[in-house]
This record gives sequence, C-alpha cells and structure tokens, in this order.
Amino acid sequence: MRILILGGDGYLGWPTAMRLAARGHDVMVIDNYLRRTLARETSSLPLIDTPDLAERTAIYRSVSGFEIKVRIGDCADPAVMARVFQEFQPEAAVHYAEQPSAPFSMMGFDQAKLTLTNNLGTTFNLIWSVLQHAPGCHIVKLGTLGEYGTPNIDIEEGWIDIEHRGRSDRFLFPRQGASLYHTTKIMDTDLLWFYVRTYGLRVTDLMQGPVYGLDTKEADADPRLIPNFHYDDIFGTVLNRFLVQAVAGIPLTVYGQGGQTRGFLNLEDTLQCVELALKTPAMPGQLRVLNQYTELFSVNELAARVKRVGGTMGMNVRIAQLPNPRKEREEHYYNVRNQGLIDLGLKPHYLTDDVLGRLLARVFRYRAAIDPTRIQPRVRWS
Ligand SMILES: NC(=O)c1ccc[n+]([C@@H]2O[C@H](COP(=O)([O-])OP(=O)(O)OC[C@H]3O[C@@H](n4cnc5c(N)ncnc54)[C@H](O)[C@@H]3O)[C@@H](O)[C@H]2O)c1
Repeated sequence: MRILILGGDGYLGWPTAMRLAARGHDVMVIDNYLRRTLARETSSLPLIDTPDLAERTAIYRSVSGFEIKVRIGDCADPAVMARVFQEFQPEAAVHYAEQPSAPFSMMGFDQAKLTLTNNLGTTFNLIWSVLQHAPGCHIVKLGTLGEYGTPNIDIEEGWIDIEHRGRSDRFLFPRQGASLYHTTKIMDTDLLWFYVRTYGLRVTDLMQGPVYGLDTKEADADPRLIPNFHYDDIFGTVLNRFLVQAVAGIPLTVYGQGGQTRGFLNLEDTLQCVELALKTPAMPGQLRVLNQYTELFSVNELAARVKRVGGTMGMNVRIAQLPNPRKEREEHYYNVRNQGLIDLGLKPHYLTDDVLGRLLARVFRYRAAIDPTRIQPRVRWS
C-alpha cells in the first residue's frame, strides 16, 4: 500500500513509519518539526537527542534496507498537502500531525490559538486532499480517549444508542474534553463525521490512551532510531515523568488525589492497532471508532508500581501529592469498552514489572541529561 504518515517525525509517527516500511509498504512521511520547535520554545527538550528525518531515514535505510520518503512541510497549509497528495496518491493516510500537549494548549492565548488552528487545519486539509486528489484513501486518525472525559456511565466505542420519549437513535458518544487540546480532538471527530456522512469518506478514528515505551523491533536496531522521549510537565506523559523522577531521586509528582484513571498502552500495541486498522479499512461512508488501550491504571497505581520496581533496582523512590494544576475529576467511575481492536486481532503487551524495569534502566543510562527544572508543573488551568 502507499501510506502517507502525517506527523512522521513524532513519538508515534516515526516508529509507525519504520514498521510499515519494514512490512513492505511504500511509506512517505511529512512533518514540519512543530514538536521540536515547541519543545525548544518551552524548554521541554527530550531526554535523548534524536536526529532529524533526513538523518533518521538514512540510518534506517543503512541498517534495514528499507526506504522511507520524507517531505518537510506544514500539513495545515493546503498547497503543501495538495502537492504531496498529487505526487504520492496515498491509499491510506495515518494522521498524527497535531499539537498533542494538553498543558501547552492551556498556557495562554497564543498557544491555544496555535493548537486550535493547527489541529483543525491539518484535519481539514487532509479531508479535502482526500476528496480532491485521492478519493478512496482510508484515513486513520489518532483521536484520544480524553475526548470522552470521565462520565459516570460506561464509555462505548464511539457511538451510543439513545432512547428518548419512546423513540431511539444512534449518536456519537457524548464528549467533554478537559483541555483545549482535547476539545480540538472532539472538533476533529465532528469534522470527520460531517464529511464521512456527506461525501462518503472512509475513516477510522482511533481513540487512544497515553502510550508508553521506547522499544520496537525496528527502533532497537540502532540507538539513533529511538522514538522521542519527553519527560517534562508539558510534553511528557505521566509514566515518562514518573520514570525520570524515580531515576533523578525527585518525588513522583501525583496531581491531586491521584485517583484519575486512564487507559494506557505499549508503543508496540499502537503500531499493532494502526496496522490492524489499515488491514481492514473502514467502508466508504463509515466513521469507525475504536477505543485504543489495553490496561486501566490510576495515577496512584502507576506511582506505586514505579516506586516498587524502582525499589527493587536500588532506587529510593518517593511519592508527593501536589495541588492539581488541572481541572479534572480526581476520583471517578471509569469503564471503557475496548473490544473492537481485540476482535481485529490485537495481542496486548502489558505493563509488567519487567517492562517497567527495562524502561527505568534505559532512563538511568541518560540520567546525566535530566533537567530537574522541567519537572514541577509550570502550567495551571486557572
Ligand atoms: N502519545 C500519546 O500518548 C498519545 C495518546 C493519545 C493520542 N495521541 C495522538 O497521537 C498523535 C501523535 O502523538 P505523538 O505523541 O506522536 O505526538 P508528537 O508531537 O510526538 O508527534 C506529532 C508530530 O506531528 C508533527 N506536526 C504537528 N503539526 C504539524 C503540521 N501542521 N504539519 C506537519 N507536521 C505537524 C509534529 O512536528 C510532530 O512530529 C497526536 O494527534 C496525539 O493527539 C497521542
């Protein structure tokens, strides 16, 4: 298949590109290095330096023999996207190209506007590029479980049947984001649904939870092929932050009560899920929504696990409860269906002590590069 990856320099985009190329697909990535720029501007550089796409793809070619085509450009620019689509004629497009940090989107007007215009702009241009230049192209869009919020009812896979005054109909499951970033993902879903039902696009929306991990078969072939690892309060996800804090001897920063529960998954499982979605595409006129996570953990449970596994490795891990900089429920009901991807064949990799231990050992090797000023929360919701 000809597969275009939007955001191919990112934490998920880069390992996806390597995996799909290794499967024999014709892969092109496009990225404008927005993540690298924002990380520099907010003093949130990753723990481990990663080469740019020209270098990464050259290294990957030399160790594997597989080619990944690279285009540097802004997916929010319609002319750039039109050129890429006309030239490459993708049969599938995997859309990762968004500003993915909730705290960044809550920093102030400029950051909120960038998040809104970038995320909706890339999604809108992708939709129109498909309509105008590659009809039939299957869009695989990365959404987030955070779109649903934490309702006091079970969360279905995207859709819910509602009975009201004796009549019933099927609707997108109600959504309520806890940050502007999450709200842009909700708006993306609405945009996609409008174009699916009006123009017959084929779209899979993967509602993903926080991803952890650095190992993939392809990335492990050369240390320079490692995915980005951010550990700061703005771009680092909760487990990354805890791993680095454990290694640095800084108390793990649990926000508020720590009962916030989310659905997590291993990077290897993200790659599996995207491949499974590509193998069995959505039908024309279908918005297929799949909830993408393998295990539920509360923040307290994650902190306790890192403390326990770190302890067995000789680390003195402490846990601190900080006033929550976010506005979110700290104790809540959370039951999210995730049968769809299992039915498609997903074989989960779980967060075992061994996996945690390997991640801690990896971070330990780079401990000299940890910058403690990037660890305490710098952004408050109000
Ligand atoms: N990583 C997770 O845990 C996670 C969880 C749920 C959902 N997601 C979603 O998955 C997607 C990828 O996440 P990630 O963690 O890899 O983020 P990332 O920031 O590492 O990757 C996104 C990439 O897209 C690029 N990009 C952004 N806007 C662009 C534009 N206008 N033109 C070209 N390139 C652009 C960035 O430079 C970056 O390389 C995001 O949409 C995010 O919302 C991620």
